[in-house]
Amino acid sequence: MFKVSQLAAAVAMVVTAAAVQAGEVEVLHYWTSGGEAKSVAELKKIMQAKGHVWKDFAVAGGGGDNAATVLKSRVVSGNPPAAAQIKGPAIQEWAAEGVLANLDATAKAEKWDSLLPKVVADVMKYKGNYVAAPVNVHRVNWMWANAAVLKKAGVAGMPKTWDEFFAAADKVKAAGLIPVAHGGQNWQDFTTFESVVLGVGGAKFYNDALIKLDAKALGSDTMKKSLETFRKVKSYTDAAAPGRDWNLATAMVMQEKAAFQFMGDWAKGEFLAAGKAPGKDFLCAAAPGTANAYTFNVDSFAMFKLKDAGAQKAQGDLAASIMGTEFQEVFNLNKGSIPVRLNMSMAKFDDCAKTSSKDFVDTAKTGGLVPSVAHGMAIKPAAEGAIKDAVSQFWNDDKISVADGMKNIAKAAATK
Ligand code: BGC
Repeated sequence: MFKVSQLAAAVAMVVTAAAVQAGEVEVLHYWTSGGEAKSVAELKKIMQAKGHVWKDFAVAGGGGDNAATVLKSRVVSGNPPAAAQIKGPAIQEWAAEGVLANLDATAKAEKWDSLLPKVVADVMKYKGNYVAAPVNVHRVNWMWANAAVLKKAGVAGMPKTWDEFFAAADKVKAAGLIPVAHGGQNWQDFTTFESVVLGVGGAKFYNDALIKLDAKALGSDTMKKSLETFRKVKSYTDAAAPGRDWNLATAMVMQEKAAFQFMGDWAKGEFLAAGKAPGKDFLCAAAPGTANAYTFNVDSFAMFKLKDAGAQKAQGDLAASIMGTEFQEVFNLNKGSIPVRLNMSMAKFDDCAKTSSKDFVDTAKTGGLVPSVAHGMAIKPAAEGAIKDAVSQFWNDDKISVADGMKNIAKAAATK
């Protein structure tokens, strides 16, 4: 028979052991659309199978601007979540604040250095230590289309150049349908804008103008042509576009109301979640003129420093799960992206994903692989925000001349 004191000690030991083995992970993310929610549910399942408690902290708003604002207030008030969906240079900014946990123990045990492309690993590290775990690779420079709408309008295939695109758009218009489904929010405007810049100017120009923010490139004739093309694309959108969420624009394509959408491959996650078949119901192609380039967007989770041992254990398990083969496959099949982990089999993936995977590798060799500015992969958040505002102002107000639009963008690029 146990004495009460022995029993109490035994119970305390069990409780401590349990606390070390399982913990609560509060995960801040902005994956709330149909395809996104299905994808994040897979991560929740894996964590629950490991005995952890998943506390969902979803903040709606495509592109994550709302989530970023909420995260700031939580961290500033000393109550950060265990993990948050943060990417690109924002990871470095958070790490510099001293609030991120060091993930090196997990990264070493799981051999992340040998499992990640260097361009990705570098973004996940701060001063040589891993502070974030990458989830996927999204390609941003995609164009999506409804196959039946193209057929109805007499468009033979996916347009490869901007001239072909505008000719196709005219046919769709003549058939009484909306050529371009767009959601007028500044990250969506910029998603279209960066594809136009890439298509008009090529990868080197994209790098000079949008990443190096080189004044000469921003004032060049190529920039002028880009803005003219961008404005022309807008003339093929509908009057109800302002403020529309991206997934509702995708729905317009699905429902045969619109022909095309310029959007990253999370749009494919939406089509798939609605039971649509790639290559049959919907088509994917690189945005006009961008087949030899690739704007990448890597989602990742940074972990915040927490004191509780159970919570720390859960963070390690979350990081390891994210990079594990099981999650990398099932998540990306749902999300529309491709695994970020190298040497994964693409057997279960569709042709859009296979193209993305091949182009990711090929463009890395030719210099065509460039980070997406629209999706926070390239420049510091302050300059990014200012440029996005200037581009959206131009998109929204046809009275702003191309010359003034160029000046406003160049001025915004100087934001520190
Ligand atoms: C993220 C995607 C997300 C999309 C729409 C992008 O910035 O990288 O994961 O699905 O925004 O919310």
